[in-house]
Parts: sequence; C-alpha cells; structure tokens
Amino acid sequence: MASLLSVRDLHVSYGAIKAVRGVSFDINEGEIVTLIGANGAGKSTTLNTVAGLIRPDSGSVEFGGDSLVGVPAHKVLKRGLALCPEGRRVFTQMSVAENLEMGGYTRTDAENRETLEMIFEHFPRLKERRGQVAGTLSGGEQQMLAMGRALMSRPRLLMLDEPSMGLAPILVQEIFDIVKQLNEAGTTILLVEQNANMALSVADRAYVLEIGTIKKTGTGAELLVDDDVRKAYLGG
Ligand SMILES: Nc1ncnc2c1ncn2[C@@H]1O[C@H](COP(=O)(O)OP(=O)(O)O)[C@@H](O)[C@H]1O
Ligand SMILES: [Mg+2]
Repeated sequence: MASLLSVRDLHVSYGAIKAVRGVSFDINEGEIVTLIGANGAGKSTTLNTVAGLIRPDSGSVEFGGDSLVGVPAHKVLKRGLALCPEGRRVFTQMSVAENLEMGGYTRTDAENRETLEMIFEHFPRLKERRGQVAGTLSGGEQQMLAMGRALMSRPRLLMLDEPSMGLAPILVQEIFDIVKQLNEAGTTILLVEQNANMALSVADRAYVLEIGTIKKTGTGAELLVDDDVRKAYLGG
C-alpha cells in the first residue's frame, strides 16, 4: 500500500505555546485513520497545518510524494486534500446549494454537476433541503453540509475535524455511517475525534495524541481494547 500522506516530526506553535511537538503519522490510500485525544491535545492544529492554514516550525508533510510545507490552503485543496473544519463553519446566510457550489470552486461546472449528484446520494437530506438557508439547518444537517462542501472538491484525502461534536447520539451514528460509506466509495479519510469509541470503531488505524505528542498507535480494534486507552478515553 502506498502512503498517501506522510507527516514527519511536525512541530507547530502559537507564539510561546508549543501545540504540536514532534508528531509523525502516515495514511495509506483507502484507509480511515483516526487521531484521538483530549481537548487541547493538538488535533486541530495538526489538521490545520496539513491543510496549509498554519505554517509549522519544522517537520515535513508529504502528500502523494510532494511536500506541502509552505503551500497555501487553496493550493493544498487543488492538490486533492480537503478539510472539513471543527465547528462546521457553513455559510449561514447562503442556501445549501450555494454552500455546496462554494466547495466546488476548484472544479468545472460539469464536474460539479456530477459531484453534486454523488453527494446527494450520500446525503439525501441535503437534496431535500437544497434551497433552504444553511443557518436554519439542524446541527447534524449543518455537519452533513460541511462534509458535502468539502467533498465538492473531489478530494483524494478528506480530513474531518470532530464531525460528531455537539450532536445527539442518533445523529453521531448517522454521521459515522456516512463516513464509512464515503470511504467504501473510495475516499481516504483522516478523522479527528474526541468521541474515541465511535472513531476507533470505524477506523482502520488510529493514533493517540497527548499534549502534542503521539503516545500510541495501532488498529482501531486493538486500541478499543487497550487498557490505557480504555481508562483515558473510553470511560474505563
Ligand atoms: N489560535 C491559537 N492561539 C493560541 N493557542 C492556541 C490556538 N489554537 C490552539 N491553541 C492551543 O494549542 C493547543 C492545541 O490546541 P488544538 O490543536 O485546538 O487542540 P485540539 O484540537 O486537540 O483540542 C492548546 O493548548 C490550545 O490552547
Ligand atoms: Mg480541535
């Protein structure tokens, strides 16, 4: 299996705060990989750095064999790496369809028409609500829209930052089912979650991030039964 994303010894800080302290991980084509960790562990900083929104102090990020360090976010997207950010950040004043259109700005109209059909198959609720203003959607629907918008760029790798945050358990299940479906349809996924139980259940492999450092790695199934992981992240 070829490594699609390879992050090596990444260091990222905000002024004097060292948020990421030597993180290394790999994602192979076709996998769902999850990065789990407590609030403040450095998960979002890692994703935002890979996406080109933050410049690292040091370390390397290679995507499909090319370096991404110093590449601006819109070019990272063009190369096939999309971020669905924490807190959704949909354009609340725009309709569902307009939000999706914004996500397709790197693609042609013909491509976008085709991608939209694919997205509506995964998210029938977005199809029903295509004319609705995004700010009036429920939290779960806004999450679906944020994921749909990221998918409009047809990414080779989709990075999801806490897609289950703030959602009722039934919607959390629905979002994770969709993550699985998207992966089965060919998208490689990097999933960041505080909901370790769900994340480990869908992931092929996982990394545990603590205070900016990778503390453990294994398959999702291995970490679900790991004593330390159970105590720290799965409520015993
Ligand atoms: N914009 C910022 N300015 C200063 N410190 C930040 C900023 N964003 C995050 N941090 C700090 O960096 C650390 C990692 O944060 P973050 O990557 O958001 O963690 P996580 O996503 O795992 O909750 C935390 O200590 C957090 O307070
Ligand atoms: Mg975060």
